[in-house]
Amino acid sequence: MIRVDEATVVLGIESSCDETAAAVVMGGNDVLSSVVATQIEQHARFGGVVPEIASRAHVEAMTPVIRKAIQDSGVGFERIDAVAATVGPGLVGALLVGVSTAKSIALALNKPFIGVNHLEAHLYAALLDDPHVEFPMLVVLVSGGNTLLVNMESHGKYSIVGQTIDDAAGEAFDKVGRMLKLPYPGGPEIEKHAREGNPKSFIFPRAHLKDAPFDFSFSGLKTAVLYQLQKLDDPQAHLADLCASFQDAVIDALVKKTIKAALQTGHTLIALSGGVACNRALQEALTCAAQNAGMKVQPTPPALTTDNAGMIALAALLASENRPSDSLEIGI
Ligand code: KG4
Repeated sequence: MIRVDEATVVLGIESSCDETAAAVVMGGNDVLSSVVATQIEQHARFGGVVPEIASRAHVEAMTPVIRKAIQDSGVGFERIDAVAATVGPGLVGALLVGVSTAKSIALALNKPFIGVNHLEAHLYAALLDDPHVEFPMLVVLVSGGNTLLVNMESHGKYSIVGQTIDDAAGEAFDKVGRMLKLPYPGGPEIEKHAREGNPKSFIFPRAHLKDAPFDFSFSGLKTAVLYQLQKLDDPQAHLADLCASFQDAVIDALVKKTIKAALQTGHTLIALSGGVACNRALQEALTCAAQNAGMKVQPTPPALTTDNAGMIALAALLASENRPSDSLEIGI
């Protein structure tokens, strides 16, 4: 049985996609260290993550990243009470590197191993600054692989309120970035150019799904951008306006559906998590709409919105309390 108190120390490991990360977290929210080695440069020339390259890069980075996390934390391996790692969802080869390493350390230290769901960990990222929130909380999880609206009722208890029926929001940012010939990942690049553009220059569609009002769809928006590009003689001359108009359509859909869902479910606390949560325009639009509706947005520390291991360790600490540790036999 895993017992958690303020002095419990967990080593978290994350390797589900293109970030090799390790963190040491104590008790409820004390992030003693968080180290992230990103592989973005190795994948950039391919315009997306190449699984085999990701696995090999994790193998190379894993030991130095863990060593640095332990060093930065100021505690030694002997203070680690449990070792947690992302067991999925993610790239198979990439996950295997983190999980095998975590199990080996757990075995060597004779401490429990805890397998963590990557999406559950993203929900916990919002609690890294302040874990004492009053549930329920509505989490908008927007990353490269997922777009979900999740009702977090309490630790370890969740239900899905809405989700994308096709592309994730981050995926749409990355694919539109590619159409606009911007470097990978497209999200931060589009945000940068959007600051100089007029969001009303091009009218892009917002999907309204009649039977699933809180679900999202971004594939039609992507196609609309493509058709618009085909109509323009010199798309690069309109880059800032195209970025601003596309970003506005994504933000509009995310914010309106989130507020509508919160009004229906009765949530007054909203959190934003996942890589797209780095987007300042999205943060501002959601905060403003929430305030107007009498709701509050729980801030996620900017460095902890993208993939990191602090959220893995925290999810292990807060969602795994009083449950048996995982067998070293569990797979990814
Ligand atoms: O959560 P994350 O690091 O990885 C997973 O997908 O699990 O999210 C990465 C995604 C990419 O699609 C990237 O383009 C997007 O987050 N992203 C952004 C911004 N920063 C990162 N999208 C929009 N605006 C940003 N500033």
